[in-house]
Parts: sequence; C-alpha cells; structure tokens
Amino acid sequence: MSFPVITIDGPSGAGKGTLCLKLAQALNYHLLDSGALYRIVGLKAFEAGLLADQELTAVDEDNIAKLTAQLDIQFLPRDSGEVDIVVDGTSVAGEIRNETVGGYASRVAVLPKVRSALLELQQNMANNSGLIADGRDMGTVVFPNADAKVYLTASAEARADRRVEQLKQAGQSADYEAILSSIKQRDERDENRSVAPSKPAEDALLLDSSQLDAEEVYRTIKKFCQTKGICF
Ligand code: DC
Repeated sequence: MSFPVITIDGPSGAGKGTLCLKLAQALNYHLLDSGALYRIVGLKAFEAGLLADQELTAVDEDNIAKLTAQLDIQFLPRDSGEVDIVVDGTSVAGEIRNETVGGYASRVAVLPKVRSALLELQQNMANNSGLIADGRDMGTVVFPNADAKVYLTASAEARADRRVEQLKQAGQSADYEAILSSIKQRDERDENRSVAPSKPAEDALLLDSSQLDAEEVYRTIKKFCQTKGICF
C-alpha cells in the first residue's frame, strides 16, 4: 500500500515551514523537514573538523558521507504538533536553526555522496503514513511520483524582511544587509550545484509568496491539493 505524498520545495524563508506544518496537521500526515537533515549533517561535519577546508576534497566527501550514514536521526512528533529532531539520542532542534548552521548545511548539500546517504531515510518516511515533504529536491529527486508538487518561492528581499522580523521577535539582533547577502549567497549555491539543484519539478505548482500572507498561501495550496484528489 502506498500513502499520499505532497512535496513542497523552494528556498529558505519562502514560508514552507509554516505551510508544511499546517498541511501536516490538517491532513494528519507525517512531516519530513529535509533541510533539517542537511543542517544536522553540516553541524556534525563541522564538529568533527570535516569542514575546515574551503574547497572540500573527495576525501572530505567520503568522510562526511560516512559520518552521515552513521547518524541515528529521528523525527519525534510532539503534542504541540511540532516535530522534535533527535540525533544519537539528543535533541538538536534548537541548535540547527541559525545562519551559521544553514551555511554548513549548504556546503554539505552539494556533495552527491551525502545526498545519496540521506535518500533512503527520506523515502522511508512515506512508508507508514501520508507525508508532507519540505525541501529543495523533494519533487524532482526524492519523490518524483508525488501526488501533488509545489514550488514555493519569494523574492530575496521579502525573505530577508521575514527573517529580520523572526529574529527581532526572538529578541535577537538582526542586520538586514548581512541577512540579504547570506540569502543570496545560499540561493546561488543551492540553485547552481550540479546535483539535485533547487528547482521546480516540471509538474509542480509555482507560487510566489512575496505578496501573500501565510493564510493565503495555505488556502491556495489546499485548493491545488484538492484538485489532485487529496481530501481535507
Ligand atoms: O531549508 P533549510 O534552510 O533548512 O535548508 C538548509 C540547507 O540544506 C540549504 O542550503 C539547502 C539544503 N537542502 C538541500 O540541499 N536539499 C533539501 N532537500 C533540503 C535542504
């Protein structure tokens, strides 16, 4: 028996996280936050001293892929509906959501052996329940036969504004220009890498959220999923 899969791809800050959580709750599906996987690998590779070289070599790639295959990663749903991420028995959810770890993630995400080490783990998440898969290559590589595919985007400026707002609300300082430049740098790396670049699947719905609020995005995607036979 196969379970429905909805893929939501697109750059950081386009609103995928909020949308995916809402969809997963409304449909009672599991949620795959694939960006968290690359963040975990990035963090662990950094801690192991494997990101020291500016240009990663084939040996670095082998070592990072080996480390990836050895990680025990679990997504544990909490009563709040959020998902806790536990690596080798320790929650890392609070540790991976920052620009520094995002940068490490983007560096390990270009490595084909790391991507293939994470492939099966991601695909297995659709074995026991419907799945909302959040990432860059969910519709193109990981779930090419997904029931509904979405590519959610927004201008770099709109995404930087949202990030500044999030940091302010969390009581942290925020430098708009630095954030915008880091977003552009990360987009460039994610969209132009040779393996699984961030791009819409041919059969994906393209939605630009620059001028939309979270509720408008959710309503649009809900309607689209309904046209694909997914009932809410
Ligand atoms: O969505 P995010 O910001 O948590 O993703 C972190 C990094 O991981 C980002 O630079 C892109 C990369 N990534 C990827 O290459 N493939 C995915 N499916 C998800 C994220």
